[in-house]
Amino acid sequence: PYETQVDSLLSLMTLEEKIGQMNQYNGFWDVTGPAPSEGDASMKYENLRKGLVGSMLNITGVEEVRKVQKIAVEESRLGIPLIIGFDMIHGMKTMSPIPLAEAASWDMEAIEASSRIGAREAAAMGVNWTFAPMVDVGRDARWGRVMEGSGEDPYLTALIAKARVKGYQGDDLSDPLTIAACVKHFAGYGFSESGRDYNTVDVGTTTLYNTILPPFKAALDAGARTFMNSFNDLNGIPATGNSFLQREILKGEWGFTGFVVSDWGSIGEMVPHRYAADGKDAALKAAKAGSDMDMESYLYIKHLKELVESGEIEESLIDDAVRRILRVKFELGLFEDPYRYCNEELEKEIVGQADHQAGVLDIAKKSIVLLKNEGNLLPLQKSGLKVAVIGALASDKDSPLGSWRGLAETNSAVSVLEGLQAYPGNTYRYAKGADLVLEQPVFLKEVKINSSDRSGFAEAIQAARSSDIVLAVMGENGFQSGEARSRSEIGLPGLQQELLEELVKANKKIILVSMSGRPLDLSWADQNIPAIVQSWHLGSQSGNAIAQVIFGDYNPSGKLPMSFPRSVGQLPIYYNQKSTGRPNDPGSDIVFWSHYADVKNDALYPFGHGLSYTAFSYSDLKTEKSADGVVDVNITVTNSGPVSGEEVVQLYLKDHVASITRPIKELKGFQKISLNTGEQKTLQFKLTDAELGFFDGTGKFIVEPGTFTIWVGGSSSADMSTEFTLD
Ligand code: IFM
Repeated sequence: PYETQVDSLLSLMTLEEKIGQMNQYNGFWDVTGPAPSEGDASMKYENLRKGLVGSMLNITGVEEVRKVQKIAVEESRLGIPLIIGFDMIHGMKTMSPIPLAEAASWDMEAIEASSRIGAREAAAMGVNWTFAPMVDVGRDARWGRVMEGSGEDPYLTALIAKARVKGYQGDDLSDPLTIAACVKHFAGYGFSESGRDYNTVDVGTTTLYNTILPPFKAALDAGARTFMNSFNDLNGIPATGNSFLQREILKGEWGFTGFVVSDWGSIGEMVPHRYAADGKDAALKAAKAGSDMDMESYLYIKHLKELVESGEIEESLIDDAVRRILRVKFELGLFEDPYRYCNEELEKEIVGQADHQAGVLDIAKKSIVLLKNEGNLLPLQKSGLKVAVIGALASDKDSPLGSWRGLAETNSAVSVLEGLQAYPGNTYRYAKGADLVLEQPVFLKEVKINSSDRSGFAEAIQAARSSDIVLAVMGENGFQSGEARSRSEIGLPGLQQELLEELVKANKKIILVSMSGRPLDLSWADQNIPAIVQSWHLGSQSGNAIAQVIFGDYNPSGKLPMSFPRSVGQLPIYYNQKSTGRPNDPGSDIVFWSHYADVKNDALYPFGHGLSYTAFSYSDLKTEKSADGVVDVNITVTNSGPVSGEEVVQLYLKDHVASITRPIKELKGFQKISLNTGEQKTLQFKLTDAELGFFDGTGKFIVEPGTFTIWVGGSSSADMSTEFTLD
């Protein structure tokens, strides 16, 4: 609808002003990447005045945003407003659970609602563009950024991507409480070799088309207006300079009309990638490949004019990038009112609003996964128990805020210990046992772990011994996962494992609350601890959510979005693997199968796994083919346990023989339902071409005839199955 306005504005712009729109600066104090090597505040102010800045990131709060917007609008020649970006990943001030945790809810409405809360607070603070959702499929728990995604499965990730885009953008981008989404990182970042951040990515086209790209396409179909490219190279070409990804697929085949921003300094990083000879070459390659906006490399502003004037790059490519950027600014309503997101009253009213806390508590409860519950140790009775609460994380009010915590106040989360106090019928004895980290970690610095001070062990062991039950709260500090937080070992960090082993000797009635930003190796705990609750980093309401699950006021319903490995050596591990020519055969005593000699092939806790305080039984699995080629699947689910609860009914599909090798099974549908005790529901799933087909190695979507198996149940290891044939 804004094409005429965009074109007429473009016609007024000088080449320099056009390039200015493609230039994004960081705010003057905050950084979310390495400190820039050049450029200071005065240079940035000067360029703002000259109309040479299209966007700023990391400027927040109405007062601050207004200051820079005022310069752009009132002091530059054409007065083009800035688009203001920020990493509002899982909340601004009120923190939702980390995205990986939210993915465990499998609840699209709750995820959309949680994203909306973050968007409202961000918009009320002057931000109109978030660098989210991250839709990188992640299968290697060593990679710290798995906390920011939705796990290992493209189908689940795609649905969550849609929910988040809707949550951020709503139905009307120009609403002062909605913001533009930025789908990232295009593409392949989640496949960084060996889980080491920023590492190289080399994947075949069938993985690219069937696993990596579908969530991006889903986000685009949901209306996402911007994309961010990526630090990694993909099959030899840095994503930032990758024309195949950005021009052929995204802007070509998919018809994307919004704009692509680079990742922080990623245009300049094409030099150390040794794909560009110098900054000028990098600017040329990035612009040609379709990177529309330069985040903090300063290379577009420095070199593009000269490159156009020398004929090395056509001005039409610059025009195309600027059109895209202006289009989104129009859609955000910034030309109608550049101060649309700068309303002090709204800021006061919305940020930290009381019902936001209720919203993040709701999704926090739904994100918790009950991994193990031997002898129904959980839920705990609400009175008369002496409970030992052990671990630095039990009283930690900061770690639950997680990584990428927006502008959350330090130490503002409800700790587990505080959450337990809402159940005063029991007595709680807290002992830290050991420090988890040496000092309060910060976003920019490596987290240092104290690994030698055992002076708190005796008190913790004594507390365990003299209590009826032990609640060990262990796992990762909030900054031990996230960007640049890859780990080669994924057990409990520091002295926690040692402490846990001592606690088990002192009291066998022990529950582990595992608080982490990634799947940890919980093999020892699985063997030795009767009940394990995966609580992730749950945000502002963490302790309340955990306590409600512990005492049964909320019946856990979360299901794992990522497999938990038996050992780090199994990584990457994911349920939807290929068969190989020598599928693992656990019953065989012959050695020549695709397996490990020292550990089983399957996950400790597989994708989709999660227990409840009740039991669900499945019956009457039937398929029926309709004339239009759709396969209807019917299944009856009964709550056969003692309390009401929610179940995520999951459908997996296997295509027996295909023209490319296909996974052993793939998630192709799920429904989250609520059942009272004794209640029964019959559900229907529809398998259309979209579920039955796949992309071949050239990116063509095909559906092939043949036999298919489907499984329906409460996890990826569900065993109720049936077969059907497609002609
Ligand atoms: O949005 C992020 C990105 O995910 C990683 N590098 C910095 C960007 C902006 O903060």
